[in-house]
Amino acid sequence: MKRVLVTGTAGFIGFHLAKLLLSEGFQVHGYDGMTDYYDVSLKQRRHQMLLQTPGFSATEDLLENHERLMQVADEFEPDVIVHLAGQAGVRYSLEQPRSYIDSNIVGTFNVMEAARQHKVDHLLMASTSSVYGANDEMPFTEVEKADTQLTIYSATKKANEAMGHSYAHLWDLPTTMFRFFTVYGTWGRPDLALYKFVDAILDGRPIDIYNHGDMHRDFTNVNDLVRGIRLLIDTPPIRPASPDDIEEGDSLSPVAPYRVVNIGNGDKVRLLDFVEAIEEAVGKKAIRNYMPMQMGDVPATWANTDLLQRLTGYRPQTDFKDGIAQFVEWFRDYHGK
Ligand SMILES: NC(=O)c1ccc[n+]([C@@H]2O[C@H](COP(=O)([O-])OP(=O)(O)OC[C@H]3O[C@@H](n4cnc5c(N)ncnc54)[C@H](O)[C@@H]3O)[C@@H](O)[C@H]2O)c1
Repeated sequence: MKRVLVTGTAGFIGFHLAKLLLSEGFQVHGYDGMTDYYDVSLKQRRHQMLLQTPGFSATEDLLENHERLMQVADEFEPDVIVHLAGQAGVRYSLEQPRSYIDSNIVGTFNVMEAARQHKVDHLLMASTSSVYGANDEMPFTEVEKADTQLTIYSATKKANEAMGHSYAHLWDLPTTMFRFFTVYGTWGRPDLALYKFVDAILDGRPIDIYNHGDMHRDFTNVNDLVRGIRLLIDTPPIRPASPDDIEEGDSLSPVAPYRVVNIGNGDKVRLLDFVEAIEEAVGKKAIRNYMPMQMGDVPATWANTDLLQRLTGYRPQTDFKDGIAQFVEWFRDYHGK
């Protein structure tokens, strides 16, 4: 059975992925620095839950502590590394850009070094739909150029993709980069819209709706997302013998065992429809505060998920209304509201 080192297990996506892997009998070691970007008690609760599950062990430290990370890898001897820890958040990157360099550039480099030295079967790392930046041809496909990042957050993730490609090429390290599209779901992040909106509506506070509501997002349910990651673990890229062997629409590198894969719902939802679904699930109307577009933000995201489906046979498809209802139920239970 595979031994998987997952970074970011106290975080939203890492927690759900660890749960799924443990349910299938994997040995999982979590590595998370418990950063205070948002409420640390939520991260602690997630880790406590995982620690009650057989097969899970964890280290709480920063990725920047490369000696500790290497020591953990030496002791755990992972077959696979899934790297999800990082400084997330588009808007925060305007306030604290250095945090992105430290966690996403230095931290990711340290993870890549651990993967190289342990010759793991597969390294999988989180990138983001934000790397599509100012691209406006939708849905976004992995093979199109993505060179117009609009924030330091997305720039660090694009840099991670380039770093990953170089190590895949140099060290024959099979590497998959995920581009995630607006992930939501139970145990979600307090800085993301769904959490903020539900919290504010329940308290009777106004919600800020940017670009006057003229926004679209490809909302991806976290359960679908981690199912996609799980399937991709078993699908390491193989360096093609010749560029002619690469199928059309596959982002496989011509010179490395390296691939970029969108994980999204493959659908774009109007922000105002999203808000209406929240109102319905909460059973209360929102006080809407319409605002201009935020700096660094994009009006729409929408994933082409054909490659994920071709590689794994799987396509995320939770209806956002069902996903929102599940989230509201969790939120009320978690906060006793
Ligand atoms: N949630 C989304 O919608 C979304 C979309 C696109 C990409 N992503 C990416 O997916 C990954 C996981 O996102 P998430 O939503 O679970 O975020 P999250 O903030 O909930 O989880 C990230 C975890 O990484 C840890 N961490 C941060 N910096 C660290 C460091 N320097 N050393 C050690 N641990 C550190 C944090 O403590 C946190 O628990 C991130 O890389 C994020 O950029 C997320």
